[in-house]
Amino acid sequence: MIAIEPSVLSADFTRLGEQVREGEAARIEGFQVDVMDGRFVPNITFGPGVVRALRSLVSGILDVHLMIVEPERYLADFADAGADRLMVHQEATVHLHRVLQQIRELGAESAVAINPSTPLCVLEQVLDLTDVIQVMTVNPGFGGQPFIHSQVDKIRRLREMLDERGLDISIAVDGGIDPTTAPLVVQAGATILVAGSSIYNSKASVAENVAALRESVARAEGG
Ligand code: DX5
Repeated sequence: MIAIEPSVLSADFTRLGEQVREGEAARIEGFQVDVMDGRFVPNITFGPGVVRALRSLVSGILDVHLMIVEPERYLADFADAGADRLMVHQEATVHLHRVLQQIRELGAESAVAINPSTPLCVLEQVLDLTDVIQVMTVNPGFGGQPFIHSQVDKIRRLREMLDERGLDISIAVDGGIDPTTAPLVVQAGATILVAGSSIYNSKASVAENVAALRESVARAEGG
């Protein structure tokens, strides 16, 4: 089962509620909210207030991707705002093990994101505390960037690593995911697709873009 999570970063902010409702109507599995602090990534976006506002519209997973330094400072705020999943970057905290423990203590799903230059070995000691691992297929900060193909092999090696250990951890991918790249990452083992500009754009409706993404992976899922 492939889960599609539109990234609201690419939505039209003048009508964010409407755009989220369009995603809901397209039967997606959740939304990823990209929180950026202008330090960990060169962009600034949303805070807990936007997550709280979106909570009332989102029936699926409200997945908060914290692209901020020292994310431990805000875990409780985003959990209180209604986040179902709290995703931190391995590169953004000194105490990843403790942060993942804190996320679980808050009752949220725990997730770790790793940037394209970050090797899989950094995850070795926290797999028992992790529900989702997100492999970034762009350098985070902005939507509409080109997909980094070298990450497909990383996704494949990650799936092998998790399967060898018998771990039921989902692999998410984020960045440049569209009907061309989605089959590549699904065949490598990804089951959560985060997509921004391929869903929110002027070329087609949200429903049409979600359908195109789903169709593109239907064959890949079949193997
Ligand atoms: C990285 C963000 C992504 C981004 C994806 O900058 O974390 O979620 O919004 O946008 P696309 O799908 O357009 O690459």
